Amino acid sequence: AKVTYHLPDGEARTVEVPTGQSVMDGSVRNNLPGIVAECGGSCSCATCHVYLPAGAHAQFDDPTEEELELVEFLEGAQPNSRLACQLIISDQDEIHVEVVDSGL
Ligand code: FES
Repeated sequence: AKVTYHLPDGEARTVEVPTGQSVMDGSVRNNLPGIVAECGGSCSCATCHVYLPAGAHAQFDDPTEEELELVEFLEGAQPNSRLACQLIISDQDEIHVEVVDSGL
């Protein structure tokens, strides 16, 4: 899928991310800023915080309890907050995420 990362500095970068990888993988593998992914994708560090645009929730599986609990305590958490390592590419054509500056 084509994933467009709207970066904290206002720039947007679009990259191709293969099925089975996560939105976090796509960012890290392309050296994009903003997603630190300290835990490597095991849903424990919350440094891969992104916002989904309105209506985009249906593109992905619902968050697990674990993810919801982590997101709840994040600075800047919003109802459209997700952890990018839990957003898995399947058959979406186009994905947009807003990368949240984690301050790291
Ligand atoms: Fe650590 Fe997503 S990479 S929670």
